[in-house]
Amino acid sequence: MTVSPFARALDTALDRSVVPGFSKIGYAVRRRLPTWPADPAIGALAGRHVAVTGATSGLGTATARQLSDLGAHVHLIVRNTDKAADIAAELRGASTTWKCDIGDLDSVRDCAARILADGPPLDGLVHNAGAMPPERAESPQGHELSMSIHVLGPVLLTELLRPAMKGRDARVVFVTSGGMYTQKLPVDDPDYTHGEYSGSTAYARSKRTQVELLPILTTRWARDGISVYAMHPGWAATPGVTDSLPAFDKVMGPVLRNVDTGADTTTWLIASQPRPRGGGLWMDRRERPTSFLPRTRPTSDERRRIWEWAAQAVDLTP
Ligand SMILES: NC(=O)c1ccc[n+]([C@@H]2O[C@H](COP(=O)([O-])OP(=O)(O)OC[C@H]3O[C@@H](n4cnc5c(N)ncnc54)[C@H](OP(=O)(O)O)[C@@H]3O)[C@@H](O)[C@H]2O)c1
Repeated sequence: MTVSPFARALDTALDRSVVPGFSKIGYAVRRRLPTWPADPAIGALAGRHVAVTGATSGLGTATARQLSDLGAHVHLIVRNTDKAADIAAELRGASTTWKCDIGDLDSVRDCAARILADGPPLDGLVHNAGAMPPERAESPQGHELSMSIHVLGPVLLTELLRPAMKGRDARVVFVTSGGMYTQKLPVDDPDYTHGEYSGSTAYARSKRTQVELLPILTTRWARDGISVYAMHPGWAATPGVTDSLPAFDKVMGPVLRNVDTGADTTTWLIASQPRPRGGGLWMDRRERPTSFLPRTRPTSDERRRIWEWAAQAVDLTP
């Protein structure tokens, strides 16, 4: 394909301008550019097993539906199995539900053990479950809850499910957030024990941590042939946005993406061929910068330190 310099420049300009780029306008414009990658083929995931955390709402439900439409057997990893039954009933293909509170490392261990014992090998794992606790809260293991749900639980779940993904060219996607662009890596206080707590800051710090762990996780999981990605969905209208950010929801409502548009890049990263390059941050089917502000760009030593903290928190050898 001839890459149009104009199309690339326009796509990049949308990124830098944030509001148009993150909204439904960005998706609509990019989709019409000649640089837009092809959709996954019909039936691209036939015979594949892909797990999605937080599949009971918003982007997670849309991701499960899109993966199912492409032929995948979808594994719904959820904390509310009644809600999951309604979602499963609407999927085109087969699914299996696994109960798990991603913010609780004991629950993650229990879920992974059940999947390893009773489940099939996995070809993909989407870390979509997310929350923005309004007050500082801790996981049962004593870690700040945003960090636990977005970083510790997903890292542990992937580590434990490595045997199920080994040698299958599996893909792991962290659903992060553009909010992470505002924050630097919280190397000195990953559990947010100092300063006045802000739910949106904690959320953005944990999302920054997901992205900055990518180089280390990519090297670590490549040994099992696993590719790892982060993607950010832009701004999509979901129950999570309505509940956690009501003012933002009210002002931005008319330009928010729908859930299918928000989930598009996750599904594309799991299903497209050839396999997209691993280890980076993606949005709208293109790899994006991980920092726009120099103050948010960590050193490799800071990445190593946050990894050592996370590895210790989930009892891994770094
Ligand atoms: N919507 C956006 O514009 C946007 C922007 C940037 C990033 N994101 C990210 O996209 C992901 C999905 O967000 P959304 O907007 O679709 O939010 P949502 O509608 O609130 O859905 C969140 C999902 O995560 C699940 N969840 C939360 N805490 C969990 C836990 N401890 N264990 C297991 N599951 C848990 C929820 O389960 P229940 O149904 O049981 O509550 C729900 O299924 C999140 O990671 C979010 O940070 C969204």
